[in-house]
Amino acid sequence: MDLKIGDIQETALITLAIRASETSRPNARIKDSMAKEIIDTLGVDVSKYDPFMSHEGVVARTIMYKNQLEELISQYPDALCINLGCGFDDKFVQVDNGKISWLDVDLPDIMSVRRKIYQDRDRCLMKDGSAFDAEWTNGLPKRSMTIVVMEGVLEYFTKEQVKTCLNMLCDSFEHGYLLAELHHPLLGKNTKHHDAVKYTNAEFQWGTKSGREYLELEQRMSLVSERSYNEEMRKYSLRAKLFALFFPHLNNRLAVYKW
Ligand SMILES: C[S@@+](CC[C@H](N)C(=O)[O-])C[C@H]1O[C@@H](n2cnc3c(N)ncnc32)[C@H](O)[C@@H]1O
Repeated sequence: MDLKIGDIQETALITLAIRASETSRPNARIKDSMAKEIIDTLGVDVSKYDPFMSHEGVVARTIMYKNQLEELISQYPDALCINLGCGFDDKFVQVDNGKISWLDVDLPDIMSVRRKIYQDRDRCLMKDGSAFDAEWTNGLPKRSMTIVVMEGVLEYFTKEQVKTCLNMLCDSFEHGYLLAELHHPLLGKNTKHHDAVKYTNAEFQWGTKSGREYLELEQRMSLVSERSYNEEMRKYSLRAKLFALFFPHLNNRLAVYKW
């Protein structure tokens, strides 16, 4: 397949490559049964997208997002869950409780590739859409709580774009939670040194030292929790343990916001 996708969209291949390679390992910490099939269908060589630290980071964050989502879904069993900037990820199968309504949303070029592999399922639909406009939010199933997942997406947005996205979410959904991946400002200045993203044309943008910085952009939101990926990563390797010890604030974080 001739893969024509934009610069940020290309980063979806990184998580895809990592989830496929982890799935094929004995004692895999995460399982993504579709990832290998997607790579084969796309016919792309993704080997360069799977270096050690990114691998460990994506595995850690996949586990942390799943746990966090399951916790929220147990509180709101019929929530509308939205994976905004879903790439090729299939979180629905990981957390489905038989009642949630799920929406996978990404830019049109990624969604047209995604549609070659996935089909709409009962309570799990795909929509073209952007984090910067609300058009895709029209006509969604009505649920009293919305849980929005943005895993590996906001790092590529300027401060102004993050604001546009947060304002759009609060305008579009009366009550919600946002699970957001945040990164340190130093990473924003060092895309070229990132072990996987350096192989793409994407650039990290506005980073934060604290999740509270988002609250200045959208006052309807409050910060529920913020946890470094170090928490999960350091369980598995000496290198990650040392990274957590020497750079406790430099790793990406999972922040949960509520409005
Ligand atoms: C690093 S990938 C992460 C994909 C997926 N969330 C995962 O964890 O596997 C970044 C994703 O953000 C999407 N993206 C970039 N800009 C976007 C926008 N303005 N609106 C929606 N999605 C966007 C890209 O297309 C890409 O799929």
